[in-house]
Amino acid sequence: MAERHVSVAEPILGDEEYENVEQVLDSGRFLQGPMVEEFEDKWADFVGTDHAVAVSNGTTAIQLALNAIGLEPGDEVIVPSMTFGSTATAVVHQAGVPVFADIDRELYTLDHTDLERCLTDRTVAVMPVHLYGHPAEMDEICAFADEHDLYIIEDAAQAHGARYREETVGSLGDAGCFSFYATKNITTGEGGIVTTDDDEIAEQIRLLRSHGMSGRDQHITLGYNYRMSDINGAIGTAQVDRLAGFNQRRREISERLLSEIADLDWLEPATVRDYVDHAYFWAPIEIKTDVAGMSGKEVWRELNERGVETRHRYVDPLYDQPVFENHRGFNSEFPWSVNDNNHDYDLSLPNVEAVAGNTIGLPNHPNLEEADIEYVIKTIRDFDPE
Ligand SMILES: Cc1ncc(COP(=O)(O)O)c(C=O)c1O
Repeated sequence: MAERHVSVAEPILGDEEYENVEQVLDSGRFLQGPMVEEFEDKWADFVGTDHAVAVSNGTTAIQLALNAIGLEPGDEVIVPSMTFGSTATAVVHQAGVPVFADIDRELYTLDHTDLERCLTDRTVAVMPVHLYGHPAEMDEICAFADEHDLYIIEDAAQAHGARYREETVGSLGDAGCFSFYATKNITTGEGGIVTTDDDEIAEQIRLLRSHGMSGRDQHITLGYNYRMSDINGAIGTAQVDRLAGFNQRRREISERLLSEIADLDWLEPATVRDYVDHAYFWAPIEIKTDVAGMSGKEVWRELNERGVETRHRYVDPLYDQPVFENHRGFNSEFPWSVNDNNHDYDLSLPNVEAVAGNTIGLPNHPNLEEADIEYVIKTIRDFDPE
C-alpha cells in the first residue's frame, strides 16, 4: 500500500456551478437554452473569435467543423499520427479520408516538414492538434495551408487557453474545436465547442447540430442531434470564469515538477517553446527507454503502484489502429472506396515511432496540495528504474 495517492485529474467545481445547475433544474427546461448561450458568448470572448457554437463533445465539434467547410466524400484531411483517435475518426465520420503525418520530435505536435509528403489532389484541410496543451507550429502550418489553399481546423481539445505568439488557440485557423470532457482543464461533464470568425461556418454548425432544421419542421440539410443541454452549459459558463486561474496554477505546478526532476538521466521533460503559453493539460515527460531499461507503460505502472497516477496514452500510432489499417468505414470500405489515392497506412514515421508509448503526464491539476506535489517529486526522484 502506497504512503499516499495522488490523482492525475480531478474536476474542480465551485458554488456557481451548483447554483447554475440548480437554476436549470428548477426551471424544468433542460434543453439547449440561455446557459449554453451564455457559455458560448464567454468562450468566444475568451478565445477571441466572433463565434463559439457549443455541441455535445469534442469529437462532434470536429465533425461539424469538417462538414461546415464543405468536406466531400473521399476528400483528405492531414492529421498527426499521435493524438487521440477521434481526431481521425471524426474525419471518417464525415466521409473524409485521414492522411497521417509525422510529429515534431520535440513538441509531439504535427510536423510541418512532413506536410508536403501528405499533400495530394484530394487534400482539403490540415488538422493540427495542440497536443498536451502545447500549441502546434502554427506559423509554418498556416503558411503551408495558404500556399495550397487548404482549410485549417485546429483540434484544441487539450489546449484551453493556450497561446501561440500571443494568439489564443482556436482563433488561428478557420475553426477551432474544444472538448470539455471530465479530465480536461475545464469541464462540462461531456461537451464541446467550435470557435470561428467565419459567419457561414458558424451558421452551418448551428444548423447541423440541431437536425439541420430551420424553424420547427423544415430539415433543410442532413443534420444531427449534437446539441449541448443547458445542464452542461450551466457548468460550462461557471467553469470559464475559473479557467485563467486554473491554468495559472497548472503552469506553476507543472513547471515546478518538471524542473525538479529534469536532472534525472532516465527522463526528459518535454520542450516548451518560449513564444507559447502552454495550457499544461499534461505535464509531459519522455522516458528514455534505453537508459531506463523499461517502457513508458512499465514506468506508468510502477509509479501508479507507488501512489502517483500518471497519464499514459497514444501508445499505438493511429496508422496502426485497426479502424484505419483495415479501412473500417461505414460497415464497408467507404469512404476510402471513393478515394483513388490508395492510402494503405503501411507507415512507419520516425518521430512517431520514437515517441509513441514513451511519454507520460504527471499529476498537475489545481487541486493538488503542497504535500501531493512534494510526494510526486520524491517518488519520481526515488524511483530508480535502472
Ligand atoms: C486531441 C483530442 N481530440 C479530440 C478529442 C475528443 O473529445 P471528446 O472526448 O470530447 O469527444 C479529445 C478528447 O478527449 C482529444 O484529446
